[in-house]
Amino acid sequence: MSASLMNTYARLPITFVEGEGATLYDEQGRAYLDAVSGIAVCSLGHAHPEIAHALCEQSKKLIHTSNLYHVVNQQLLADELIRLSGMDKVFFGNSGAEANEGAIKIARKYGNDQGKTNPEILVMENSFHGRTMATLSATGSQKVQEGFHPLVSGFVRVPFDDIAAVEQKIASHPNLVAILVEPVQGEGGVHVPKDGYLKALRALCDQHNLLLMIDEIQTGVGRTGKWFAFQHEDILPDVLSLAKALGNGVPIGACLARGKAAEVLAPGNHGTTFGGNPLACAAGLAVIKTIEHHNFIDYVAKQGEIMISDFKARLAGIEQVKQVRGKGYMIGIQLDRPCGELVKRALDKNLLINVTRGDTIRLLPPFVMSHTQQEQLVSGVCELINEFLTDI
Ligand SMILES: Cc1ncc(COP(=O)(O)O)c(C=O)c1O
Repeated sequence: MSASLMNTYARLPITFVEGEGATLYDEQGRAYLDAVSGIAVCSLGHAHPEIAHALCEQSKKLIHTSNLYHVVNQQLLADELIRLSGMDKVFFGNSGAEANEGAIKIARKYGNDQGKTNPEILVMENSFHGRTMATLSATGSQKVQEGFHPLVSGFVRVPFDDIAAVEQKIASHPNLVAILVEPVQGEGGVHVPKDGYLKALRALCDQHNLLLMIDEIQTGVGRTGKWFAFQHEDILPDVLSLAKALGNGVPIGACLARGKAAEVLAPGNHGTTFGGNPLACAAGLAVIKTIEHHNFIDYVAKQGEIMISDFKARLAGIEQVKQVRGKGYMIGIQLDRPCGELVKRALDKNLLINVTRGDTIRLLPPFVMSHTQQEQLVSGVCELINEFLTDI
């Protein structure tokens, strides 16, 4: 659309100018049901009055000072995140990739401090951790890495959801210092590992003195029906990265650490100008307050199960539908063929959906979606799939 923007995105032919709840409006005033939430960001929907109020009030007082000084909202938000997660300390940045950069730096310094000058981090096939040099090197996708060699070294890869493969790599790689893993792979196609996977990783990390670093940039802040997806398995990570939904659209990232991992970084080791500024943290505080106030965690757990089982029931028996999977409001429907064109077909039905890995419809609805809208979403998507499969 604009020759002045770098050619980094294959954008859809649509511009939104306003939103309310789970609805977005284009320039012509047409309404769309949003089941993408800005890729798991606007969990409280668009123009949420409590978020708008918090941002408005904070912007009248202070937007930014600097990490040269104490920042009240930063401390308040860190306290809230610690209360909810069981972690010990927080470093605030501005995006998911930056939160993971913090995690990678903690792992490397943890290794260096023990005399491991070539520390390695175990990462997963099919994973996604971001687009900076270190995080794209950690990412398990050739498409993301293509054209950016040489990659950052020090990442060792195993298949996702395969504990035996992790055990083998640990045995053959004495320089390993950490495991970095998504609790549910998002960009990779909404893959939910078997129950007990994170618990087994936790046990291996304890046994071999490795840091368990969980990337909850997509799954965190309620998306899977718990504040954090690791809470489904009753474990604690050593490092936890968050971003996306934490600000409901205001850029913010957070790298949380616990125990020995929380003591790794010292003054001068890490920093960022904007990270944890009063405005972004006001958004984070308002998000947490609103989720608690409306009890969205339990709601997402319950309604997510209902939506997933509705999809399963309505798509049962369609041989081209390989699998319906997900947790909470993170839903994947995998077909036996590429289905990227469904995104445009959905637009014609005033519906916003996402397709990832070419063959998987990914739905990330906002928590504020009404029951009627949820029913519209389920029937809209099932109708789309049926039409698509009869047309080809
Ligand atoms: C699991 C995960 N990690 C990291 C990132 C990168 O976050 P950001 O795009 O904010 O840098 C994403 C973004 O999709 C993600 O889903």
